[in-house]
Amino acid sequence: MPEYLPVLIVGAVIGVFAVVFLTAFLLEKDKKTSMGFERHMADGEIIRRLLRYAKPYRSQFVLVFFVMLFSIVYDVASPLLIGKIEELIKGSFPLSKLFSYVAVYAGILVVSLICTYAQAMLLQKVGQKILSQIRMDTFTHIERLSHEQLSKLPVGKLVTRVSNDPNSISYMFTNILVTVAKNALVILGVLGAMLVLNYALTLMVLCFVPFVVLFTVIFRKFSRKVHRRVNDATTAINTYLSENLSGIKITQSFNREERKMEEFGARSAELKKAKMARMMVFGIFRPMVYMLYISSVLCLFYFGAKGSIQDLHWFGQSISSGVIVSFYMFLNKFFNPIQNLAEQFDMLQKSFAAAEKIFSVLDIVPEIVDEPDAKPLDEIRGEIEFRDVWFCYKPDEWVLKGVSFHVLPGQTVAFVGPTGSGKTTILSLICRNYDIQRGQILIDGRDIKTIQIASLRRHFGQMLQDVFLFSGDIRSNLLLRMEGVSDEEVMAACKYVNADAFIKRLEKGLDEPVRERGNNFSAGQRQLLSFARTILHKPSVIILDEATANIDTETELLIQDSLERIKTIGTMLIVAHRLSTVQHADNIIVLDHGEICEQGSHQALLAQKGRYFKLYTLQFTKQKLLES
Ligand SMILES: Nc1ncnc2c1ncn2[C@@H]1O[C@H](COP(=O)(O)OP(=O)(O)OP(=O)(O)O)[C@@H](O)[C@H]1O
Ligand SMILES: [Mg+2]
Repeated sequence: MPEYLPVLIVGAVIGVFAVVFLTAFLLEKDKKTSMGFERHMADGEIIRRLLRYAKPYRSQFVLVFFVMLFSIVYDVASPLLIGKIEELIKGSFPLSKLFSYVAVYAGILVVSLICTYAQAMLLQKVGQKILSQIRMDTFTHIERLSHEQLSKLPVGKLVTRVSNDPNSISYMFTNILVTVAKNALVILGVLGAMLVLNYALTLMVLCFVPFVVLFTVIFRKFSRKVHRRVNDATTAINTYLSENLSGIKITQSFNREERKMEEFGARSAELKKAKMARMMVFGIFRPMVYMLYISSVLCLFYFGAKGSIQDLHWFGQSISSGVIVSFYMFLNKFFNPIQNLAEQFDMLQKSFAAAEKIFSVLDIVPEIVDEPDAKPLDEIRGEIEFRDVWFCYKPDEWVLKGVSFHVLPGQTVAFVGPTGSGKTTILSLICRNYDIQRGQILIDGRDIKTIQIASLRRHFGQMLQDVFLFSGDIRSNLLLRMEGVSDEEVMAACKYVNADAFIKRLEKGLDEPVRERGNNFSAGQRQLLSFARTILHKPSVIILDEATANIDTETELLIQDSLERIKTIGTMLIVAHRLSTVQHADNIIVLDHGEICEQGSHQALLAQKGRYFKLYTLQFTKQKLLES
């Protein structure tokens, strides 16, 4: 009995740990309420869709598989060779044989290294291609979504979908899949080699496997939980950061820095705690597998050495010292992949979660798409008609209630009315950013739904209420990737809209850098730049949503003057807050709560002494007051 004491002690220790972990496992409740990690798609569905991306690279993956087979030869063959050398040293020891063994060993090592390298390179190449494909698909898909759909998706989330999530997926193709396959093959290969070498000792090793499986299952539950916690904490911190960095100027002007710091500190602390918890789970799991490994080594030496010294025969096999050495090496190669597999399954889950998030964006069906029988609109005269148009953003909250008007080609029509009356909405309907619920919109006498959207928008030059400038320089902002336009033409367009004077004053002219959102330019300058941008794109219908921002009188006159010129280009629709802008319009449409209350020329409307008259006299008196 005392003879078996060491083995009993090892067994007892493993047993106690197994019971403790099992209890913890059973007591632990799995919360599924966390954000961002829940899964709705079945694994099979995700795999099927991912395979579609991998399909074009089938031959490369087959090649990688064969290369991988070579790379694991080292894992399986090297312990056998070392075992043989051990026998050699013990016996006759012919030096030439030793040399040939060493040469074979070195040969296998080199081949395996080359194969591992080739495999990594191949996979990286394929992985990067798949990654860029997924990224492109996601971005292109997001571009096709309607304004309504986009406004429901937070920008931060979309950025993550395009930039981070594809990375996790590509990591799966370049790394996880292959290592999982490789580890599984190594385990099988090593097991086979051990069985051939000595099945009694192999059986002893297999006694440890149930414990490894048990610990792994338990580990996976805890690791998923901590991964989820880290994930949630990271999302929370990112969302907080992206919003608060955008609004940092407000924070500073309201002296809220300390308060914000506290809020950030709390989120940061949670992330720290979550990461510590994750470290702890891994910190327990890895030593546990290591303990099993060491115990198996202990048993190997105990039973192996005993069998060898006493020259015992189990199932007709004897144990030589070479076998013990080979087994010692095999044990390491057996337990390592098992531990890796457990950890990689987790990474695989993470990749699946990322894939699901991307697919859920790709699954959003664009709301505004071409009707099947839509035809392009090659030429446009610029006739626009609204026939009893009803529109709402949210069900039953009508923003436009039976709006009808008719704009003839070349006319300038202005929309005026109080804030929220639906002016911007009308302009976006003309560009078909939204679909109307009732009524009809006709462009050149054709229903807007029968026109291909891209061909429709090509004829429109839109100058929106808040001018958006991209970071870059002035030229790139004006051209927006339009090609074959010389600087002279660009400057001519700028001159046409009176933007040339201030551009010339800039140190670098057209090359002057534009910061994010164009915040190094004034509101008036941005407006003039947006005019120039529109002119350069030679639209037939011009749509202007005038900014409400106060502009100095000089700039206002410049804008006034450019508008007079732009008007001659084609049909023009203006939303104006300063009534001075619209006096020369052919028709002025006065809106109130989504309904047209009056329309006509400036003079006619003044004569009516209705709503327009009131608005006009109000602005006029205000101006007079300001001037006096
Ligand atoms: N994307 C949207 N989702 C939901 N409601 C919206 C959306 N855009 C506008 N609205 C609502 O529709 C109404 C009309 O808005 P619209 O932007 O057309 O007004 P506006 O006349 O251009 O006002 P302003 O003079 O302030 O620019 C408002 O009540 C607004 O709250
Ligand atoms: Mg508006």
